[in-house]
Amino acid sequence: MSKVTVVLGSFYGDEGKGKIIDYLGGMSDVAIRATGGNNAGHSIEVDGVKYVFHLIPSGILNKGTLAIIGNGVVIDPKVLIEEIDSLKEKGIDVSNLRISTKAHIIFPYHIAMDKMLEERRGKNKIGTTARGIGPCYCDKYERCGIRVEDLYSKHFKEKLKINIENKNQMFKLYGFPELDFESIYNDYQKYAKRIKKYVCDTTILIHDMLNQDKKIIVEGAQATLLDIDFGSYPYVTSSNPTIGGIISGSGLNASDIGEVYGVMKAYSSRVGEGPYITELKNKTGDLIRELGHEYGATTKRPRRCGYLDLVALKYACLINGITALCMNHLDTIGKLPEIKLCVAYQKNGKEVNFSTNEEELKGVVPVYETFTGNFGDISSIRKYKDLPENAKKYIERIEEYIGVRIKFIGVGAGRDEEIIR
Ligand code: IMO
Ligand code: MG
Repeated sequence: MSKVTVVLGSFYGDEGKGKIIDYLGGMSDVAIRATGGNNAGHSIEVDGVKYVFHLIPSGILNKGTLAIIGNGVVIDPKVLIEEIDSLKEKGIDVSNLRISTKAHIIFPYHIAMDKMLEERRGKNKIGTTARGIGPCYCDKYERCGIRVEDLYSKHFKEKLKINIENKNQMFKLYGFPELDFESIYNDYQKYAKRIKKYVCDTTILIHDMLNQDKKIIVEGAQATLLDIDFGSYPYVTSSNPTIGGIISGSGLNASDIGEVYGVMKAYSSRVGEGPYITELKNKTGDLIRELGHEYGATTKRPRRCGYLDLVALKYACLINGITALCMNHLDTIGKLPEIKLCVAYQKNGKEVNFSTNEEELKGVVPVYETFTGNFGDISSIRKYKDLPENAKKYIERIEEYIGVRIKFIGVGAGRDEEIIR
């Protein structure tokens, strides 16, 4: 393992980042979340117990691993405390949790605003997770945001009061219920007390750890095509889940970073609105959804499903400098009799480049290569050479096209159901 290993999503999220993070986490001393908030949902199964993480780095499951919520994360403290309590109930030691003083806090007005804005967008809705993520990042950049460190400042009450007054003006204007300052203030004072022992300057801590030659893993959330700059704007999240956001959301520097693992599935999926060239709005799409249990870990929404898009994957590799790929759900796609891989985009019979622009993508159709599925039960296979020929053909075509090695291949949901090359 390199000093710092980054794991990030190559598509629209839900690639199964949790699984590879869990594997690498066992070899890391520090696990960092750098972007997003509780819009993320990372499931990990250990000894038959399922853990779903929204905010806390899942590395916390490994005894002794320092789990850091970095400055780039937006924190809903109520959700964080629920996550802490639920881990404690399952017997997990959370004393190694650390929270950045600089991370921004999600308040009830962010959540109300998220819902209000979606409602007002009408048919142009984004399909957000309604967790207040976008409005919290808006406040961060508008510079009226409240950070973790502000919870302990004598100015907290005043800052909160002004924010609530301002937001209430907006709620009043659009006919949405106004929020009560006193109850929010009281709740957040309680939350602040509960999380205080975990709060510190995590950037200094991270660099101390690097100086001690500790191994670090960054647990990416969301994904490349949901990136506020590089994704299919405006159908994106409000942060940079790509490599740049990982650096600015943690305080790591570029030269610290070694391996960058891009996580993907053997097919693709998307939640929320926005363009999706290889989406299958048919029985095959429905079948993939059922076989892959493609329902949101965060919002329980059924995910849109389709074939793997290599044009988009190449773009993700380009943006992030992906050094190796981790492919999940080979077993799932292998249950189909026939599998397709998108190798180009076409419009009016002519090949076109990758784009994230909705207008440009109108009328674009995928060009497919077809592969034979029916891999049989591959869940007990641990060596690449033991995979059926049809599975190898599929994998090797992806590698040839992308020019990046698929180092991890998921053959089942379980922790060990993985081929490592
Ligand atoms: P993980 O880490 C899948 C999507 C939402 C919506 C858009 C904006 O589990 O892969 P937001 O609430 O962030 O403002 O919503 O982004 N989205 C995700 N989709 N997995 C995620 O995270 C996501 N986080 C945000 O569905 O389309
Ligand atoms: Mg998700």
